[in-house]
Amino acid sequence: MLVEQITARIASVGAQDPERQLFDAFMPLHHGTTYNSYLIRGSEATALIDPVDAEKYGQLTEALDALGVRKLDYIINLHTEQDHSGSTKMLRKRYPGVQLVGMKKVIELMGLHHHIAAEDFREIPEGGSLSLGDLTLEFYGLPFAHWPDNSAVLVKEEGVLMTSDLFGAHLATGSIFTEDLDLHREMTRAYYAEIMMPFRNQVKKHVAKIKALDAKILAPAHGPVWTKPDEVISLYEAWTGNEYRRHITIGYVSMHESVEKMVFQMAKKLSALGMPYSLHNLGAHTDSLMRAGGDMVTSCVDDPALILAAPTVLTNPHPTAMYAAVLVDTLKPKLQFLSYVGSFAWGSKAPQTIEALTSSFKGERLEPFVVKGDPGTEDLEKLEAYIEDLVRRVDAFLEEE
Ligand code: FEO
Repeated sequence: MLVEQITARIASVGAQDPERQLFDAFMPLHHGTTYNSYLIRGSEATALIDPVDAEKYGQLTEALDALGVRKLDYIINLHTEQDHSGSTKMLRKRYPGVQLVGMKKVIELMGLHHHIAAEDFREIPEGGSLSLGDLTLEFYGLPFAHWPDNSAVLVKEEGVLMTSDLFGAHLATGSIFTEDLDLHREMTRAYYAEIMMPFRNQVKKHVAKIKALDAKILAPAHGPVWTKPDEVISLYEAWTGNEYRRHITIGYVSMHESVEKMVFQMAKKLSALGMPYSLHNLGAHTDSLMRAGGDMVTSCVDDPALILAAPTVLTNPHPTAMYAAVLVDTLKPKLQFLSYVGSFAWGSKAPQTIEALTSSFKGERLEPFVVKGDPGTEDLEKLEAYIEDLVRRVDAFLEEE
């Protein structure tokens, strides 16, 4: 149980889940996560925003007991997904007479996912408000950040904006505040990669809308609050806009060291050319399919280029690389260049399979670089030239941006 005041009238009463390893059963969590919930006490009414994941309901009730909350007037659902609305029914039973509140899309989806009737909700329209006496809650829709129903509530007199999943981070620090801004930024990037990146264009509009609200604190549904909103707004502006870092991501898997040899040759050449890069060994450990794949796609958030390197297994790319390709196709990083580098023993349709698996990629697809058998000196020299060409293209692209 953890209760912290965000302002005199707004308390954090959410749950910590520091041991959780994966989110959505595929995205690695390096520091667990939290399911934030906020208690807002006005002069005439008390509201709770986002009941937590049902598995952590006990933490929420302990926090409410610690604050002596005997009566709750409103439960506000900003988003239907189970990690935020999973405890709604239980909390409703605990506080008979409590009124459920949500925006239109939330109400529709709460029926589907939690079997709560639309008539049980009070609907607030876009820009509409709910009074708690001396506090006014204003409602704003954030469709597709990242579900159709995500919404935000501004506690007007306090300048605190609850933003649902937007601006979240999987980071359980034991507090709703953090001093470790570097770690907070890093986890925000990983969170953005999975949750927001596929909806980059919609999210960009929401960031502008939120910036205009000029809140003093942004309070997301996961991880610490942002006491300096510009920190996260500028990150999101860069990620959703046309800014790139000068960096290349390489995701790879190797069976008999042919691909590994090629990857190390590419790394050597990238170093010699002064191009920063990161290597993600997709086959390093038994659980690395998701761990290294998730980290690889996080690295791609503002990278111009990704190289997928993999051997052929029975004519297809190694299954691990196919998973990584599907992940890229699903999460849609704003990559400009995509390359497949690989090897095969007797026959391969790996380049065609990679192309089919990344069909939503809209940038420039480099000619695949494929070697039959163990790469020899001549192959490695050609590979160096291939990398030199890629770096030239990346630099030309970055200059144009
Ligand atoms: Fe954190 Fe979309 O749920």
